[in-house]
Amino acid sequence: MKAASKRTALVAGGGGFIGGHLAKTLLERGFSKVRCVDVKPFDQWYQFHDGAENRVLDLRDIDACRQAVDGVDEVFNLAADMGGMGFIENNKALCMISVLINTHLLMAAEESGCERYFYASSACVYNGDKQQEADVTALKEADAYPALAEDGYGWEKLFSERMCRHFREDYGIETRVARFHNVYGPNGTFDGGREKAPAAMCRKVIEAQLAGTGEMDIWGDGEQTRSFMYIDDCVEGILKIHEGKFTDPINLGSSELVSINQLVDIVEDIAGIQLDRKYDLSAPKGVRGRNSDNSLILREFGWEPNTSLREGMAKTYAWIYDEIVSRYGAALPKARAATAAAQVEGSAA
Ligand code: NAD
Ligand code: GDD
Repeated sequence: MKAASKRTALVAGGGGFIGGHLAKTLLERGFSKVRCVDVKPFDQWYQFHDGAENRVLDLRDIDACRQAVDGVDEVFNLAADMGGMGFIENNKALCMISVLINTHLLMAAEESGCERYFYASSACVYNGDKQQEADVTALKEADAYPALAEDGYGWEKLFSERMCRHFREDYGIETRVARFHNVYGPNGTFDGGREKAPAAMCRKVIEAQLAGTGEMDIWGDGEQTRSFMYIDDCVEGILKIHEGKFTDPINLGSSELVSINQLVDIVEDIAGIQLDRKYDLSAPKGVRGRNSDNSLILREFGWEPNTSLREGMAKTYAWIYDEIVSRYGAALPKARAATAAAQVEGSAA
């Protein structure tokens, strides 16, 4: 790789959770140009870095993609219309339309002579039949085929992975693909319907604590399992994979498997509270169990995500707590708790 001071990069989805953190790291590393592009207006970006060149563009449009890649050598595609289970189960068409973003970005990157292209895929590409038990066998990369991906969102990711492979094979652009397993951390979505379990659990515990309700709701029976990757590990992994020689899709996730009940135990412990748990069995649940087999990333990079869930959740909880209190102030508690309950009922309908 060239020295950082000679490198120029586009972070597509730079106003989002992972894109915002990645752009910060690229700037810290001394990239000569970091361009962040997102469809959201600036006031909705999770992070806004003055050192970056920031633009609002809809990357479903190929001309917008051409503007976005103009004058950069590397592309990180973190842009997608996505969210946690509450969003992807109820918005399959919207999730699939993100295929336009990756297709048009790849075309524009190839046309303009970009050297390297990173694509953010997902553990949702894996075959659902291999994720039916809470006591799941960790997923290895070969488990994506024969294909039975998460409906909507997972199929779009699987197709886009292959698009990257064919652009590399046919046109020589150096594509790299990571399959992220559920990523969490500060400066991400914690309400509004797109939030994933770690942030949702923090928010619900904080709201219950502030409102003094003594209870919280949990989707499913709480025994479903996942692994959760802290954002700093995600950014480190993205850069290793992007800069490395390994070209096939590769897992980027923690292998610390927990049930959702165990995740809630951790959050309650951080908050110093115990709540009555109300299980909503009709809410979106996704697969029963999912974990990341990290044999391949260990073999190729001698590294795997290693922030403990307890440590990462403590930082995430502290950030969400401050956001909720500063955003809504003392008037928050009861109103927010009522809104959250209505959202859960809405997404379960
Ligand atoms: P995010 O929603 O915070 O960020 C995605 C960003 O893309 C958003 O800011 C959104 O406005 C932007 N975007 C959507 N449509 C766009 C368009 N047409 N043009 C330009 N920008 C557009 O999500 P994230 O958690 O930062 O995820 C980043 C990437 O990682 C996504 O591709 C996602 O599918 C993938 N991923 C994330 C996770 C996770 O747990 N966070 C897991 C697996 C895969
Ligand atoms: N979101 C959310 N909110 N999930 C909850 C809640 C809640 O209040 N309560 C319990 N859960 C349960 C869900 O029912 C699901 O069984 C589990 O927590 C995990 O939910 P999510 O974090 O929303 O999603 P996921 O792990 O099924 O899928 C996510 O990770 C994939 C990568 O591993 C999604 O973000 C996908 O978009 C992503 O690709």
